[in-house]
Amino acid sequence: MDMTPRLNSPCTAVVITGGASGIGRASAQALAAVGRPVALWDIQEASAQRAATDIASEYGVPTAAVGIDLRDPQAIAPALDTTRAKLPRIGGLVHAAGVVDTGSLEGVTPQTWDDGVNVHLRPIVLIIQAMMEDFRANPGSAVVAIASINATLGNAVNPIYSAAKGGILSLVRSLADRLAQDKIRINAVSPGQILTPMLKPSVEHLPPGFFERRILLERLGEPGEVGRVVRFLLSDEASYITAAEIVVDGGNISSQRQ
Ligand SMILES: NC(=O)c1ccc[n+]([C@@H]2O[C@H](COP(=O)([O-])OP(=O)(O)OC[C@H]3O[C@@H](n4cnc5c(N)ncnc54)[C@H](O)[C@@H]3O)[C@@H](O)[C@H]2O)c1
Repeated sequence: MDMTPRLNSPCTAVVITGGASGIGRASAQALAAVGRPVALWDIQEASAQRAATDIASEYGVPTAAVGIDLRDPQAIAPALDTTRAKLPRIGGLVHAAGVVDTGSLEGVTPQTWDDGVNVHLRPIVLIIQAMMEDFRANPGSAVVAIASINATLGNAVNPIYSAAKGGILSLVRSLADRLAQDKIRINAVSPGQILTPMLKPSVEHLPPGFFERRILLERLGEPGEVGRVVRFLLSDEASYITAAEIVVDGGNISSQRQ
């Protein structure tokens, strides 16, 4: 077997939802660092634009930025048209957009439920449907959905988030069966506590070391440590991996530390 490294293969463009910040942005940087063009889709349009400009100048790859509210199903087709016009060969998707509820059982309303599920779960299906022709046209196409250790660990604080993340793991396994018919791979990445704008308020609110004492590696994760795993899964290095969950948590789910 040819053992030449294939982290930069295929060199097709990748759409990254939530690409303006945190794990999405770090995934875009990791992909751009091996020469892959990236399109950052985010509700924070100005931040997505800034990130796309910075990535293009740092890594010398074509980039695009698209303002989109993923809760709106009608917004996906125009976002894809804009992306195709700038980056013609699309062969990857990272779904990293997310929001977290903090109101526990008492905080759940029909609106917060719909908002959570419609950001985390539904766009995976709708974007893949819209991108099938791009994926079929470009061999080696693959998808990564960002789940969470909260798909597995129960936390009273965020029932909507936990349900949506658990749904991502099941959805990935179902879609993997369908997408394999077109030789497209799909996997989930479940981060633990990663220092991003989403986690920062909890870190600042809780006592020092609250998260770290449970984590075997005794520290929070960096967004780039997830981005590198996303890049691997979207590359031909991962050519025989589909329907999998890769946990990137420094040893949290497996920990019995108090
Ligand atoms: N940070 C962690 O510790 C952690 C742990 C496990 C899983 N995750 C998951 O990783 C993913 C990225 O989170 P992050 O930590 O980088 O957070 P982040 O807040 O830095 O990034 C999330 C991005 O999603 C975008 N977004 C939110 N709602 C959107 C919408 N309706 N339409 C389009 N874009 C929208 C935000 O604008 C933001 O840029 C999320 O799915 C999150 O649940 C994060």
